[in-house]
Amino acid sequence: MPRLGDVAKTAVLHYSCSECGYSTGRWLGRCPGCASFGTLAEEALPAANGQAEAKPLLRLAEVEVNEAERIPTGVPELDRVLGGGLVPASLVLVGGEPGVGKSTLLLMALAAISRDRRALLVTGEESTAQVKLRAARLGGAEQVEILAETNLEAVCATLERERPDVCVIDSVQTLYSADIGSAPGSVGQVREAAARLLRVGKEAGVALFLVGHVTKDGSVAGPRVLEHLVDCVLQFEGDRYHAHRILRAAKNRFGSTNELGIFEMTGTGLQGVPDPSAIFGRSEGEVGAAVACALEGTRPLLLEIQALVSPTDLAMPRRVATGVDPKRLAMIVAVLSRHAGLALGQADVFVNVAGGVRIDEPGADLAIALAIASAARGAPVRAGTASFGEIGLTGRLRPATQAERRAQECAKLGLAAVIVSAGTEARAKVELVKAETLARAVSAALDRAKKEAA
Ligand code: TYD
Ligand code: MG
Repeated sequence: MPRLGDVAKTAVLHYSCSECGYSTGRWLGRCPGCASFGTLAEEALPAANGQAEAKPLLRLAEVEVNEAERIPTGVPELDRVLGGGLVPASLVLVGGEPGVGKSTLLLMALAAISRDRRALLVTGEESTAQVKLRAARLGGAEQVEILAETNLEAVCATLERERPDVCVIDSVQTLYSADIGSAPGSVGQVREAAARLLRVGKEAGVALFLVGHVTKDGSVAGPRVLEHLVDCVLQFEGDRYHAHRILRAAKNRFGSTNELGIFEMTGTGLQGVPDPSAIFGRSEGEVGAAVACALEGTRPLLLEIQALVSPTDLAMPRRVATGVDPKRLAMIVAVLSRHAGLALGQADVFVNVAGGVRIDEPGADLAIALAIASAARGAPVRAGTASFGEIGLTGRLRPATQAERRAQECAKLGLAAVIVSAGTEARAKVELVKAETLARAVSAALDRAKKEAA
């Protein structure tokens, strides 16, 4: 019988969660990290061997920074989300559901980058011929170099030898290292691939885009386990049945995470949408629709909020939110019931943001409330009117940030009026309809509509 001390330290068995990457020494039915059931899978980690040497220290003042020039990707919307272009030798994770357009976006970027720099595409999903067909549709990608490879060691060795300026790995889930026992796409493999690419990328000066698929049910090892490792996490959203796609940064070490990139999928690739308000913010005086002027990063965005209020016998009426935080919706419904005299206790309330956009900004509260009020009362919001403002639990309206920017966006899009909170000041060529409380805002928005119709 060997004693524990004699057991060779070749491999240590670990269990790690395919959802969140939580790692533990014993198997558990429920992951303590994310509370999912049955997601812990066995995985062998290479044993640590040898002792590490002490390293010399530096003071921050001695650290040399070459204020590295950013690499323009040739896709202005992508540049903006990255914080003004791609930082050399950075590691960017691009996540999104299959079919959303990740490969298309990154091939377009590589095509533009390849005009002045070396751009490499490592494809593990599509054959070189398939990539060529796609490239022909997009045009201008003749100088992009391509490698069809799924072996992690081979990819790293190639990057070290070739040292391209930018490399796209499509996708990180297809990479496979023989050192790790688990299957390609498992958390262990994905994490190892990202960690090694990070090292190689920084050493060889290669800026890397890692494509990572996320599915709604999370059946593929989520790229979420990589989020702490990479410099930027970009999410590409939008369903494949709508033409519009939204790119946002969930994490960015080199810029703000508030910027949005908006694209339209066309027959010849993704087209940036420089003026999204014109597309998302149109509302033709329909019952149950209100235009919000929300702020996404530095960019004000007009969005149409749609609501449906329908009577129900359910003891717990439904509150269904698409593109809006459900908790926020519940709060707005409660304030409408309590302080604006709307009886919503026996009604299902559905709210949707048009165009598949998601808003998580309190400035959009007022428009959500007005859309619900319009649906409940059966009266349209006054035509050509947008709104912004935060709703407090007491039914009072609070000013939203950057009021002037928002009001100017409304003026730019030719709106006549904006309903705002009483304290809001803004210089813009649009009428500011000020309301102290939500109840006043509702009557200002709906009563005028009735008067106009009469
Ligand atoms: P793709 O980039 O392959 O998505 P992902 O890499 O995220 O899985 O593209 C997805 C869809 O986009 C595909 O179904 C076809 C469509 N598409 C266009 O509509 N126009 C185009 O020019 C291209 C290249 C793709
Ligand atoms: Mg793809």
